[in-house]
Amino acid sequence: MGSVVRCVLVAVAAVAVLFAGGAAGGPLSTKFYDSRCPNVQSIVRAGMAQAVAAEPRMGASILRMFFHDCFVNGCDASILLDDTANFTGEKNAGPNANSVRGYEVIDAIKTQVEASCNATVSCADILALAARDAVNLLGGPTWTVQLGRRDALTASQSAANSNLPGPGSSLATLITMFANKGLSPRDMTALSGAHTLGQARCVTFRGRIYNDSNIDSAFAALRQQTCPQSGGDATLAPIDVQTPDKFDNAYYLDLMQKQGLFHSDQELFNGGSQDVLVRKYGGNPAMFAADFAKAMVKMGALVPPASTPTEVRLSCGKIN
Ligand code: HEM
Repeated sequence: MGSVVRCVLVAVAAVAVLFAGGAAGGPLSTKFYDSRCPNVQSIVRAGMAQAVAAEPRMGASILRMFFHDCFVNGCDASILLDDTANFTGEKNAGPNANSVRGYEVIDAIKTQVEASCNATVSCADILALAARDAVNLLGGPTWTVQLGRRDALTASQSAANSNLPGPGSSLATLITMFANKGLSPRDMTALSGAHTLGQARCVTFRGRIYNDSNIDSAFAALRQQTCPQSGGDATLAPIDVQTPDKFDNAYYLDLMQKQGLFHSDQELFNGGSQDVLVRKYGGNPAMFAADFAKAMVKMGALVPPASTPTEVRLSCGKIN
């Protein structure tokens, strides 16, 4: 190759990188911000502590937001982007609209992180740390978060609609949708234990409480009191009937008593391949906690393809 051609190619590549703010970045590392922004972990922790103290459910909401980010083109904070003239984003996708919440919590933490370390910490990393802290603040395990994610320049409503499992899913569908992300059935069953936290709208579990036969009848009657056959779509009920604000293994005990709130939950304990594991998690909280932490790290390592243009966003709702 002639040196002039090579120079031009190098220049074009440099401009492309400048324009996009860089490609997807290197491998994740637990030490990524140790020198770049040593306070980031304590800032995120304090922000989450405040949010969870004000409203325990917020921990659940942030944990779910992270899942919904990672399953759509990797953990790249694409879920946080508002719609623009160039793309219709994920916030208003079916699984997210009127459902995913807590954007303002991430924005508030981001403002504090920017004040301490300008243009350094990605929104995707803030969300990964916030989800970990949410679990721990509500009584669950902690783990070391791999860092160095970068933020997407675009978001996809259609990808959000097709990549996220719905509450009517069968066990086979759940296993396939997690396998599509490199996650095993065991990871899937462990991650589903997140449903030990939080609330769900009547519209997401009506089918189960009126139509399913593998449901405890007293539990179905209880939920039918606030979720009528028609109307009341937005009325909330706790997903874990026992301890909805505590990160524990009660979700699996619910399943063993046919008290899973979603059809998809009960699929994990309905005579299929995950029954054995559900019983183990139900009997061994430490085993669940360890597997959950491991699976969160694995899910958190889903990143966009290396060629994807990325940046460190300054404001999580819009690209720079
Ligand atoms: C296995 C497939 C899954 C399905 C079918 C599913 C489905 C749902 C649905 C339908 C809701 C209620 C949404 C609403 O009311 O609008 C919900 C809530 C929730 N999900 Fe999942 N989910 C799954 C896996 C996960 C995973 C892997 C996590 C996190 C690791 C998670 C965390 C949560 C949390 C914490 C809530 C409560 C959120 C809040 O109170 O704001 N879910 N899920």
